[in-house]
Order: sequence, then structure tokens, then C-alpha cells
Amino acid sequence: MEKFTDKDPETKSPDIVAENIEQLKEIFPEAFTEGKIDFEVLKQLLGGAVDEREEKYGLNWHGKRNARLIALTPSTGTLRPCPEESVDWEKTQNLMIEGDNLEVLKLLQKSYARKVKLIYIDPPYNTGNDFVYPDDFQDNIKNYLMRTGQMESDGRKNSSNTEASGRWHTDWLNMMYPRLRLARNLLSDTGVICVSIGDEELYNLKFIMNEVFGEENFRNAIALRRYDKNLSRQFMEFGLNSLSVGFEYVLVYCKSSNATLNPIFREASEERQASGYWKGFWNAPDRPTMRFSLLGVTPQSGQWKWKEETALEAVANYQEFIDRYSGSETLEAYWERTGKVKKFIRRNPAGQGANKGVEHWIPPSDGILRSSNWTDLLASSPLTALGIPFDNPKSIEMLQLLIQFTTYDGDIILDFFAGSGTTGHAVMNQNVTDSGNRRYILVQLPEMLDHDNNDQKVVADFCDKLGKPRNIAEICKERLRRAGKKIREEHPMFTGDIGFRVFKLDSSNIRAWEPDRDNLATTLEEHAEHLKTDRTEQDILFELLLKLGPDLTVPIEEKSITGKTVYSIGAGTLLVCLATEISEQEVEALALGIVEWYEELKPAGETQVVFRDSAFADDVAKTNLTAILQQYGLENVRSI
Ligand SMILES: C[S@@+](CC[C@H](N)C(=O)[O-])C[C@H]1O[C@@H](n2cnc3c(N)ncnc32)[C@H](O)[C@@H]1O
Repeated sequence: MEKFTDKDPETKSPDIVAENIEQLKEIFPEAFTEGKIDFEVLKQLLGGAVDEREEKYGLNWHGKRNARLIALTPSTGTLRPCPEESVDWEKTQNLMIEGDNLEVLKLLQKSYARKVKLIYIDPPYNTGNDFVYPDDFQDNIKNYLMRTGQMESDGRKNSSNTEASGRWHTDWLNMMYPRLRLARNLLSDTGVICVSIGDEELYNLKFIMNEVFGEENFRNAIALRRYDKNLSRQFMEFGLNSLSVGFEYVLVYCKSSNATLNPIFREASEERQASGYWKGFWNAPDRPTMRFSLLGVTPQSGQWKWKEETALEAVANYQEFIDRYSGSETLEAYWERTGKVKKFIRRNPAGQGANKGVEHWIPPSDGILRSSNWTDLLASSPLTALGIPFDNPKSIEMLQLLIQFTTYDGDIILDFFAGSGTTGHAVMNQNVTDSGNRRYILVQLPEMLDHDNNDQKVVADFCDKLGKPRNIAEICKERLRRAGKKIREEHPMFTGDIGFRVFKLDSSNIRAWEPDRDNLATTLEEHAEHLKTDRTEQDILFELLLKLGPDLTVPIEEKSITGKTVYSIGAGTLLVCLATEISEQEVEALALGIVEWYEELKPAGETQVVFRDSAFADDVAKTNLTAILQQYGLENVRSI
């Protein structure tokens, strides 16, 4: 039985550098000699694509190299479960994670890599008044605990990032860049990321998004109305030096050209409806005569956008392709070569959505297709109706539209600058609207609210009234609770998920090896139990999930076997017993009990079994237990 140590890759968030090297090795094995990369060979293999000019196009700033490195450094943290602060802990698929998003994004890399369909974020716009989180290259978990008041501080202060700091844009870029890089890994191949931003950092954001997601994956800069201020405030803020700012933006990027976006509509104005334009192309988009069978799909409503004969001709071409070329040429290559069929089928022929991936269908609608001008949306927020004071939450309508635009039933939506939790609320609302089962993951810093700051006093008082710590993560959780409850009351027939599981970022449950040089004997003794003693079984169980890969909402079953609690995760793919003592006499019965359960569960694929290392009095008990399990096919047995 091999023991996990803090040096084991399984006990860390993924080592992204090692993964990159593995991928390179797979594509260019000849560029590796004795396990190291030979850059000269790699350059030759890449030919003219290598840019060796001294002056390169791109955005540079002080700290960019470090920002890149920080994204590659594995996290030494964990996420601790908090069922008592959650709603419907047992059955919910939603997550609200309290913590610094850089660390949390690293911790989510194993369980959620390529699983997220939509990432929406609303980071600080860098207006000069907002706090921009300063990462610490040395020990970011300690930095987090100090900055959020969970550990005695060494004087670190959370102040606003102001123009006067001399590092105004630099600090913001250093904060954003590693987070975007990590976020990209979580997006599915058909995923989309939408980022809210103001004038202050619009161009810098566009530059780094182009770098991280690829300029070719840029889709839109959606314009939204910036909330209106009263005249005297506008004058105070802008004077006569400029116009008051009327817009903010959402930049939309796809992970790849495989991303699928849904048409979204807006109500046409009367003027538009009466105009020739409206009367022409979009008139009456609900003609039964235009609902013929195409690629196995007959629309029940709406219509095809093409005349039947044109469409059928293209489909005949498609059939010809299937018959003649299938196996010898990819569909994409066929499209490229002939230009045929492309218009009718999305690049994912498996198909998603109401029309199974077939494009050029017009849903019935009184509206017109939305452009990137969303200034008709009002900055409305249901927070007041929920009795929650919070400044400038995002418009829930805007978020619902983004969700309609980019997601399907069952998709995961992530917001790692969650604030008051508008994204979670919008996901629930949208699920009510179309009986969907989308899931959300929110991440929010427990950013402290200062009672002496006039802008934060009301919210701080609100936390006091709830008997909760004064921070924004508490506001987010309270909003999700109240929003879910209201949805249940207003839609009693809705059976969807209104719960969420709360997790909190903390240092790992596994002690780091930090020898006290003057007192080595004590260090060794303490390390006989290398799990921290103030952590619960649940803490350790969820750290295993995070680091071994299952999703944090995977079903966990529990069974008592010879008086020891054994957990089955993911229908038996991981079996865990964290009992603190397993005597030699108990080994056989426990092992056979586990085998019996394993045989009942019949998991698909390999099962890993994990025990607490310090539970065994000696190596004999460990070896016996392993031997019995292995005899019944449970080969992968580890201790922690
Ligand atoms: C502009 S607000 C988001 C508001 C949100 N869209 C809403 O509708 O309520 C940005 C939020 O990101 C949070 N934040 C800033 N740095 C963070 C970090 N490193 N990790 C997690 N959250 C962070 C701030 O506390 C703030 O509440």
C-alpha cells in the first residue's frame, strides 16, 4: 500500500507544465533527448512559423512572465465542505466556493477540465476605486488567509488600485492574466467565455483575451448601457472634460471554432415592425409550408430558412459525401473543398439543441435577431425585492440572455468573480423558464466589508443582522438562499435544483513537510500523522475528490463495515475508509466487507481504494489488507 505524500502529483492540483510537456512529446517526440526539449530541433520542426524577430506584436507589462508562471504553479490548498451553510447538500449540483479565484481555479483543474460550457465573469473594472487582488508568488494560500482576516496579518492591507499607484494597469493585468489562462483549461471544446468590462481596461482585456483565447475566437463586443447616474453626480464625476460614460461591454470569445451559439431575439420596435426591412426578411417566421424534413429533423414550430429544393439539394450532397467519401475524407475537409452542406449543419454533426445541430432554422418569433447592441436592457436587479443591499449587481436579464445564447440543458456555468451571485440566480431563473437542468459554479472572495466606509456600511450592517461575518461571500450565499426560496414559492411546480453546496478555500489537509531544524525529533513524530488533526473526515474526502478527479457533486454513498465508515464515490470508482484505527484483527473482515460492496457496485473501470495511513499499527496489517483486496481485483490501494 503506497502512501500519498505532499510530493505526489495526485495530492496537488495538476502540474500544468508537466502536462504541456507530455503533449509536446506526443506531437514532437524527435524534439526530446534524454527527457529534455531540444529547442533547435523543435524550431526546425516548426519551420517558418517561429517568430524570431526582436520586436514582436503584443502587449507587454512588468510582471507578465511571473503572471504566466503563477498560473502554472500547482496549488497547495484544498476546498473544505460546509454542509451547514449549504442548501439541499445531498442532492444539489450547484457549487458556491468561497476563496481567492486563482487558487480555486487551480483546484478545479482536475475535476472540471473541459467541462464548463459558459464562463461569465465581471471582474473589477479598475475604475480607481476597486480592490484588485494582489497575488503572492511565495505562498498564495497564506496570503489569502491573511488578506481575508482568517489568519493574523503581517500588515497586508486591501486597498483600492488607484491611478496614483504608478502600477495601475500593471496590477490589474497581473491579476487577470493567470486567471484567464486557468479558466481556458476549464472550458469545453464548444465553450464560450463572456467578460464584462468598462472603458478603463477594455483594450488591455481585448489584448490578453486575444493572446489567451486566440484572436480568431473573438465573437463580439456586446455594448450595454452603463447605469444612469443623476445629473449632479454625472457632473461631479465627469465635469465638462468629457461626456458621461454611457456604455460598458461584454467581450465574447469561444474556446474553438466548434463552439455553438444559439440565436437570440429581441422584440422589434413598432417602428421596425412597420418598416420595409422588418417586413422583408424576417416577416412571419412561422410558416408551416417551410417545415419539411431535413436531415431527420422536422421542425414542429418555426421554419427552415431555405426553400425546400435548395435545402434538399444540399442534403443530397451530404448523403453523397456519406456514401462516397466517408472514411476517406473528413466532413470538415469535404466542406472546405466543396463549400457544400456547410450551411445546414453545425460543425458538431452529433448535434445539440432543439434542432439537433442543424442550422438555418428560424424559431417562431415576434422579434428580430439580436445584434451586439444590448443597450435596450435596463440595469434591473431583483436584489431589492429579496431585501439585500448590494451596489451595482449585474442585470439578471443580461445574464439570462447570455445563458440562452451559449448554453443547453445540463451545461455547467462558471462565474469566478461572483459578487452577489447574479449568475447563480440567472441560471435558476433560466432553468425555470425552459425547465432546464443547467448547473452553476460560483467563486467569491470573502472580501471584507468595512463598517467605517460609507459605501459599505449598509451591507456590513446587513451581515451583522444575519449574524454572519461581514464579507461579500456571505451576501452571495444569502442571495442564493433567498432567490431559491422565492423561486420555489412562485413556481411550486418547478422541481429543478435551487440548492448549492458551499466549499471554502483553505490550506491542504495534508501537512507540508516543513522540518523544524532545531527540533527534528518532534517534526518526525508529528509527521507520523501527516493529515492535519483539526480536519474532519469530510474535509479529507473532498480533498481526495479534488485531487483524484471526480466532480464535487458526485454522489457519495456511505456504509458501515465492521464498525468502520466506508465511502463509495462515483458508484464505486473510489472507495475510501478514513477510520483512525484499524487493528490487525479487523483487517480481514474489513477487506472482505469492502470486496463484497465492490462486487455489488460493479463499477465501470478501475477502482482505487484509499485508507488513512496512520490507522495501521504496523506494516503487517497494511500488507495483509492490500493482499486481500488485490486478490479480488482491487489492485490500486493507497494510503493518505
Ligand atoms: C464587480 S464584482 C461582481 C458583481 C457581480 N457580477 C454581481 O452581479 O453581483 C467583482 C467581485 O469579484 C470579487 N473578487 C475580486 N477579486 C477576487 C478574487 N481574487 N477571487 C474571488 N473573487 C474576487 C470582488 O470581491 C467582487 O465582489
